[in-house]
Amino acid sequence: MALIIGVVSQKGGVGKSTIARLIARELAAQDWEVKIADLDISQATSYHWRARRLQRAMEPDISIEQYGRVDQALKSAEHFDLLVLTGHRTRPRPRSRLSRPATSSSFRLASLWTICSPA
Ligand SMILES: Nc1ncnc2c1ncn2[C@@H]1O[C@H](COP(=O)(O)OP(=O)(O)O)[C@@H](O)[C@H]1O
Ligand SMILES: [Mg+2]
Repeated sequence: MALIIGVVSQKGGVGKSTIARLIARELAAQDWEVKIADLDISQATSYHWRARRLQRAMEPDISIEQYGRVDQALKSAEHFDLLVLTGHRTRPRPRSRLSRPATSSSFRLASLWTICSPA
């Protein structure tokens, strides 16, 4: 069962993709099987980030896939140790896994939401 971390917000430019990539990269470097589910299909920031890493043969490689819906992304979790969801909140969303917004004075995280599992 994968650990699932959601870095999700309706607001753009608050650092969702950056934080998601940071978490994914650090755990992948410790030999976790990691996947980023990029829910921002309009920008696909993480998707393009992986392409740049592949072009430069950077390790570790991190699986990234684009999804239009959270429930579709969650189905892929069983194949990984960690699934990082990033992008806009979409419906249907897993209400039972949605926690309070994470806030930090040093980062612009006020509107970020953190979803954690495993169930
Ligand atoms: N902690 C931070 N401090 C300063 N700039 C940041 C920080 N986190 C992200 N950024 C920058 O802010 C911009 C938007 O970040 P991004 O992760 O793409 O946001 P989002 O995914 O929420 O739209 C990027 O240029 C990124 O490099
Ligand atoms: Mg983004």
